Amino acid sequence: MVTYIDAKSAPLKNTGQIRLYDEEAFEGMMKAGQLTATALDHVAEMIKPGLTTDEIDKFVFEFGMDHDALPATLNYRGYTKSSCTSINHVVCHGIPNNKPLKEGDIVNVDITYVLDGWHGDSSRMYCAGIPKRAAERLIDVTYESLMRGIGVVKPGATTGDIGAAIQSYAESERCSVVRDFCGHGLGLLFHDMPNILHYGRQGEGFELRTGMIFTIEPMINLGRPHVKVLPDGWTAVTRDRSLSAQFEHSIGVTKDGCQIFTKSPKGYDKPPYL
Ligand code: MF3
Ligand code: CO
Ligand code: CO
Repeated sequence: MVTYIDAKSAPLKNTGQIRLYDEEAFEGMMKAGQLTATALDHVAEMIKPGLTTDEIDKFVFEFGMDHDALPATLNYRGYTKSSCTSINHVVCHGIPNNKPLKEGDIVNVDITYVLDGWHGDSSRMYCAGIPKRAAERLIDVTYESLMRGIGVVKPGATTGDIGAAIQSYAESERCSVVRDFCGHGLGLLFHDMPNILHYGRQGEGFELRTGMIFTIEPMINLGRPHVKVLPDGWTAVTRDRSLSAQFEHSIGVTKDGCQIFTKSPKGYDKPPYL
């Protein structure tokens, strides 16, 4: 593990110390990320109307136990579940419960396994039954937003380039980008520097370097971007109750681009998962 402060990035806002990881770390991240991705593949086979998010959460816990991995969210800052399950107008951090999914619900399932100390953090959208057309479009726009963000990652690019790629695409599709939550550095820590904003301007933010590891996890709304957190202290919802969607990958910056640690082994990139 290395920390650095580079004179070249001094003019950039928020310059600080960001961990750079070596090849062995990338291997550890790949194992953790693939475990998370495999669990998310299984979730695709489970989701249907009538299933409860508690049942999803129970699977996430047991799958982790079976593979010597602990869900990072368990007892994280008072959170008591193994996953987050965010339905319809829930933006993120939905708490699994015993309410059955309804026909047409869209749900984000967010899992972070810690395997040998490495954190694999990823989330995808799922549909219970057949989604409405608007929901399907939002999911497509959100997935494409994530992939456009990932597409600009390479040494010398900045975190602002990622945000700009996401924001310009999502807004061109008449959707809005949630500002209140962001992606984050990770690796041996769950939430580390830098913050990865999903909006912004090209050239702003931190300069990306080979060896940086972080998530990109845009939350995109059909309506306004504003959110509020419910009295449970976790559940974030859209203020206008419009639908919200999110996809998340954990990635590492390589010499000529990036490596996605949490890619689906089954090619279950976005719904429908056939
Ligand atoms: N997995 C979430 C993320 O993408 C964090 C969830 S923290 C929790 O960063 F406590 F809400 F579970
Ligand atoms: Co994350
Ligand atoms: Co996550």
